[in-house]
Amino acid sequence: MTEKQLSELLQDMTLTEKVEQLVQLNGDFYGGGDFLTGPAAAFHLTDNKAYRLGSILGSDGAARLTKLQDKFMKEQPHHIPALFMADVIHGYKTAFPVPIAMGAGFDPELARETAEAAAKEASAAGIHVTFSPMADLARDSRWGRCMESFGEDSFLNSCMTAATVKGFQGENCKDKGRVASCFKHFAAYGAVQSGRDYNVAELSEKTLFEDYLPSYEAAVDAGAEMAMTAFNTLDRIPCSMHKKLLRNVLRDKMGFEGVLISDYNAIGETIIHGAAEDSRDAAEKAINSGVDIDMMSDCYLDNLEELVTSGEVPESLIDEAVMRVLRLKNKLGLFEAPYKDASEEDEKRLCCCREHMELSRRAAEECIVMLKNNGILPLRAKKAAVIGSLCESRDIVGSWAIFADSSKTVTLRAALEELCPDVEFEFIPQDNPDEKALAAAKKSDAVILALGEDQLGTGESRSCTDISLPEEQKRLFEKIYGVNKNVIALLFGGRPLAIPELAEKAAAILELWLPGTAGCLAAADILSGKVSPSGRLSMSFPYCSGQLPISYSAFNTGRPKDNRVKEFIPFLSNYMDAPNIPLYPFGYGLSYTSFEYSPVALDSDTLTSDSRITASVRVKNTGDRTGKEVVQLYIRDVKGSVVRPLRELKGFKKITLSPGEEQTVSFEITEDMLRFYDINMNFTAEKGSFILYIGGDSTAESSAEFRLV
Ligand code: GLC
Repeated sequence: MTEKQLSELLQDMTLTEKVEQLVQLNGDFYGGGDFLTGPAAAFHLTDNKAYRLGSILGSDGAARLTKLQDKFMKEQPHHIPALFMADVIHGYKTAFPVPIAMGAGFDPELARETAEAAAKEASAAGIHVTFSPMADLARDSRWGRCMESFGEDSFLNSCMTAATVKGFQGENCKDKGRVASCFKHFAAYGAVQSGRDYNVAELSEKTLFEDYLPSYEAAVDAGAEMAMTAFNTLDRIPCSMHKKLLRNVLRDKMGFEGVLISDYNAIGETIIHGAAEDSRDAAEKAINSGVDIDMMSDCYLDNLEELVTSGEVPESLIDEAVMRVLRLKNKLGLFEAPYKDASEEDEKRLCCCREHMELSRRAAEECIVMLKNNGILPLRAKKAAVIGSLCESRDIVGSWAIFADSSKTVTLRAALEELCPDVEFEFIPQDNPDEKALAAAKKSDAVILALGEDQLGTGESRSCTDISLPEEQKRLFEKIYGVNKNVIALLFGGRPLAIPELAEKAAAILELWLPGTAGCLAAADILSGKVSPSGRLSMSFPYCSGQLPISYSAFNTGRPKDNRVKEFIPFLSNYMDAPNIPLYPFGYGLSYTSFEYSPVALDSDTLTSDSRITASVRVKNTGDRTGKEVVQLYIRDVKGSVVRPLRELKGFKKITLSPGEEQTVSFEITEDMLRFYDINMNFTAEKGSFILYIGGDSTAESSAEFRLV
């Protein structure tokens, strides 16, 4: 349809119809059965009103959604098709590694590929929109949703977010195999105080704009068709009624023109937050703030029409919102093809197809991080005990694997048996270090411990105050270590855990994250030595929960711990019971080979607003195996009108080097990379000295200085 036809359609709609387009309920309302007595009663829905709403969430399946679409178009007076939305976060039927793992892959193209594959599967299942990527920066691993983030760094987060949007949407979301992307949660949901989910977020304006907003803007710039508001407050205003954030920042400053949906009942929750009097007040505040669709609350359904007829809300606000919804349906081609790509045949052909399973495996290979290796890996043991309840668990795929086909999940046991045929394994799927476990450990050359969190232990509303291993797993490790020092720890999970005891005593540690449907095959490939690990941490691993939130992009303070400023000042910025630095830093990861960096070379040490500096290093593979290295560029602004981080990631390149091979890696430095929010909140670069670092993680020491003049 043309824009004119859409406008004519809008003009022809009743106010009731318009409001219905702005309400989204989940599949519970469409299951038949106790329709009127179950959830529908809570929403005072007549028996067919639900079929006149603009969209639904959480339903899937070509057959089911095709039937539902027929019903929607029959009941809707203008036969407007519905939008079918769902959380396809890290895959649909084929699960890929969770986003924090994809961040550790430092490979945006890989993120695009996995999103593209997920879109093919989901669109064949009749889904039009995915509530992904989650672009929230995460620096506090007490928060369970670190799992869904791309980690602690704004630049990495932005690169991965943009690539994921492109993967879902392609050049045109109307195209076959594409879905519209709804980025979330706007804004700064990852900054919830104390890492407790749904809590308030208390950020300075500079921190919000400098660290947390860029990844959302990257989603907008990548063309994301939708955005979702966050549950948390900012400046003590619930995001779903934060007019300045939603209209001035998201729409005016970032130029977002797509559909803005609330999170699940988030408009209703402005009442519980204590910032809206009742559902009528909540509806008024949300529509005035520019929230187009009310997900799973009854505020818009019960109040918008009366707010307009009473003159308190201009109908133009409703029209603006409805027009965005109609435009999205049009962009997806639903007026001409209301079923879009729904096809039971394509579903069968695409879901968990060989190509996608191989991609799931390859993605995990890139994302798994080797944190420690005393040389025990690649595995040469002939007899190995594999102990831990997670070694046979299927719950290691990911916390948003709600659609994943768990029958296709490859467990760690199955992967080891398939890919390490020369090793005699004894599997003991328990965390209890009983006689059987100890006996198996005693007679083994090495012990593989499957530790950490399964997908039920991390994710939404899975915050915890203590991110160390569960007591039983700590006991398991100590007891097994007591009888066999050759312990290889495989860590599953969706967040950095505090593992000082493993770091001290384990022979090797591999962070598998929640690696997806075929991810354990990648783990086995790495254990066997077929693949050299190349993941690099997307989030710092703290020594303990007390260090949280933590990030490499820290500030010097006036009393830095590492260099006493004044002899007469004995007090420093430090802890009495822990170091300031993390156990394993952002960007860190080991390989089966080693790399050497030459000093950084600059083609100039003076930068102007319209020039560029080329910074280069030669990287050499000094080991005897081919390996991948993530060459990382960090920059420090030595002095600003406000304090500046000690370093910020400004570039990275993942390269492959064969033994002895050297490669020159160059980065172009331009003035716009140095911009920040100055003391007057102007986004600008300030003249002065800068230090740049290039190396294999955020502690890189090889540096060079330059000046912006
Ligand atoms: C959840 C999540 C959000 C998700 C939505 C729909 O509460 O916060 O990320 O997309 O509800 O399932």
